[in-house]
Amino acid sequence: MLQRTFVMIKPDAIARSLMGEIVSRIEKKGLRISAMKMMQIPRSLAERHYAEHAGKRFYEPLLKYITSGPVVAMIVEGDDAVAAVRLLVGKTDPKEASPGTVRFDLAMQVGRNIIHASDKPETAEREIALFFKNDEIVK
Ligand code: RTP
Ligand code: MG
Repeated sequence: MLQRTFVMIKPDAIARSLMGEIVSRIEKKGLRISAMKMMQIPRSLAERHYAEHAGKRFYEPLLKYITSGPVVAMIVEGDDAVAAVRLLVGKTDPKEASPGTVRFDLAMQVGRNIIHASDKPETAEREIALFFKNDEIVK
């Protein structure tokens, strides 16, 4: 089923010059990018994006990290795109991710796991609405 998902290249990936490598993996898989922008997330947007984690012990460090530098926000489309991108990204903790995934291949720590991808189609639509206006999306 044609689907869209929300992907964000996190600040440490930008700092480590891994933006191109990550975009390249998404493109080579055959997924399509229908919106993309670099931005620095204000705290208020970070709080809304990660609202499900409010109160957890990693919440504050997570907000600090995600607002610490520029990110690249993207909408990625394709057949079952949500699951396809989660597989490409790998498990949350890079130590548990499979070889060949972005997180295993390019990261070492759960708190610096370099990429975000929506976990469900409904989450994807919620996150896309947080980050993009309709006129920023290519039809
Ligand atoms: P994301 O939302 O960033 O794509 O990551 P995810 O779905 O794989 O993982 P999630 O459970 O949503 O956690 C969001 C982010 O919080 C940080 N985290 N740290 N045990 C920990 O220290 C811990 N657990 C989660 C990670 O940066 C994770 O990506
Ligand atoms: Mg998540």
